[in-house]
Amino acid sequence: MPARKGKRTTRAPRRAAAHQAAEAVGPAARHRIRVTVNGRPYEAEVEARTLLVYFLRDGLGLTGTHVGCDTTSCGACTILLNGEAVKSCTMFAVQADGAEIMTVEGLAKDGELHPVQKAFWEHHGLQCGFCTPGMLMTAYAFLQENPHPSEEEIRIAISGNLCRCTGYMNIVKAIQHAAQEMAAR
Ligand code: FES
Ligand code: FES
Repeated sequence: MPARKGKRTTRAPRRAAAHQAAEAVGPAARHRIRVTVNGRPYEAEVEARTLLVYFLRDGLGLTGTHVGCDTTSCGACTILLNGEAVKSCTMFAVQADGAEIMTVEGLAKDGELHPVQKAFWEHHGLQCGFCTPGMLMTAYAFLQENPHPSEEEIRIAISGNLCRCTGYMNIVKAIQHAAQEMAAR
């Protein structure tokens, strides 16, 4: 049966065009970004609405960065952006265009754990480990700024990172030992 001239055939393309136009400027609009992650350059197309944490996990396969809340509360998604600890669920991937990023995968070098990682292991700074990547990145960034912290300063530094398991005692102990180890290097 021949297609009838009617509203449907004439309207659909217009609707599609309108949809495409909305996508070009809306949250699904795609943007090309370049980032360096753990010393390796990447170029990718991302939707405007993609959170940085999902770009790292789903786009680059760096699943060491965890998502605990998606609402800037838990700190499990903490990474370093241009040397500063940030919660990667709190920004869009497009905002990281041109940035140097370090994730937990970038801590160990040549198969050797970073002193912060070793200290968490040796001093039982984790139980389930869900908060651990964020804790490690926060501690790493903090110790770059303050290599000889007091216990109180450590507690303040990790106050944006929640742990459901440990009671924080061993996390604080681990960061103290990491500081000593890094200072002795
Ligand atoms: S997942 Fe980002 S703060 Fe919880
Ligand atoms: S070790 Fe389980 S949430 Fe921190």
